Amino acid sequence: MSGPNTNYDPVEVSALDPANIDAAVEEALAAIAAAGSLDELKAVRTAHQGDRSPLALANREIGALPPSAKAEAGKRVGQARGRVAQALATRQVELEAERDERILVEERVDVTVPAVRRPHGARHPIELVAQRLVDAFVGSGWEVAEGPELESEWLNFDALNLGPDHPARQMQDTFFLDPVDSGLVLRTQTSPVQIRTMLEKEPPIYIVAPGKVFRTDDLDATHTPVFHQIECLAIDKGLTMAHLRGALDAFVRIMFGPETRTRVRANYFPFTEPSMETDFLCFTCHGEETWGSAEPCRTCGGSGWIELGGSGMVNRKVLRTCGIDPDVYSGFAFGLGIERALQLRHGVQGMHEIVEGDVRFSQQFGMEV
Ligand code: DAH
Repeated sequence: MSGPNTNYDPVEVSALDPANIDAAVEEALAAIAAAGSLDELKAVRTAHQGDRSPLALANREIGALPPSAKAEAGKRVGQARGRVAQALATRQVELEAERDERILVEERVDVTVPAVRRPHGARHPIELVAQRLVDAFVGSGWEVAEGPELESEWLNFDALNLGPDHPARQMQDTFFLDPVDSGLVLRTQTSPVQIRTMLEKEPPIYIVAPGKVFRTDDLDATHTPVFHQIECLAIDKGLTMAHLRGALDAFVRIMFGPETRTRVRANYFPFTEPSMETDFLCFTCHGEETWGSAEPCRTCGGSGWIELGGSGMVNRKVLRTCGIDPDVYSGFAFGLGIERALQLRHGVQGMHEIVEGDVRFSQQFGMEV
C-alpha cells in the first residue's frame, strides 16, 4: 500500500486509474465467462476477487487518498467489484445447474432393467451330516477337536502304533510331502487328532473330531482321494467296551434312526486293543437276511447288516506314548467315513455327485444359504 498521498494525482496511484479498473473488470468478466467448471470458477474467483486481486488492491489504495477523492474512487471501485461479484454469482449458478444436469444423465439408474439374480448356495451335505453328528455329541458334553490337514508322520502313524513297516505308510496310500524325508504327510485319517488331544489334555477326555483326510485313491464310485472322517475318543477311569457299544448305538441312532442297532466283529487296528468292526442293522430290510433270495436287499446286499467303521479300546501302548497311565485310565475310540454315511443315509449312488460341488446336488438336502 502506498503512503499518505496529500497531493492527489490519480496517475500516481495507478491501481485506481479508471482505465485500469475497467481493464481489471473486463479481464475478470472474460475469465468468468471462460470458466468451464466449478473448479475453474473457483480459481477465477481467487484471482479476481481474492485479497491479491487487482480490484482488492485498488480498494486498499482508497484509504491513502485525500478525503476529497475518497468518495469518487470508492464508488468506482465498489461498482467494479459489484459487477465482478454479480458475474461470479451468475456463472456459479449456471455451472451448478450444468453439473446437476450432467450427474442426472451420467448416474442415471434404470430401475426397469432386470436385476442379475444370484442363485442361492446350499450347505454341502457332507458338512450337514458332520454337523448333525457333532451337535449330538456336543449336546452330551463332548468337545469338538480339530487338527491340521498337513500332519507330522509321527502323529499320523508312529504315535498311533503304526510302525515304519506298516503297509498304510506305503507310497500307494499316503501323500508324502516333498522332500520325502520332510516327515510330513497329508493326514490319512482323523486319528492323529486323538494323539494331539491326549498330549495336550488331562483325562477325562471326550472329543469328537470331524475333518478332511487324504489317500492316494483314484476317484470312482466308492473312493475319492479327499474325503471326510469323524472320530470319537473317550478317556476316563473305568471305561469298558460296554461304554463303547453304548456310544456306537447312540451314534447310529442319530444317523439312521431310533430303531438302529449295532453289532461288532473282531478286527485289527494298531491303535486299539481289542479292535472291532462295527455294523449296524440295515435300515431298509431291518436285518431280515435276504441273502441268496431272488431280490436281495439293495442297501445291505442281503446280509441284513451294514459296515459302519472301526472302533476299539485305546491301545495301552498309545496311552503310554501320550503320557497317560493305562493302569489308571482306559478309553475307547471309533472312526468312520462321512461320505459313506451320506451315501447310505440318503441313497446317493456314486461318489462323483458328492465331490463335484454342483449346487443342485447340495440343494436337495434342504439347507440353503
Ligand atoms: N483311523 C481308522 C481308518 O482310517 C478308522 C478308525 C478305526 C478310527 C478304529 C478309530 C478306531 O478311532 O478306533 O481306517
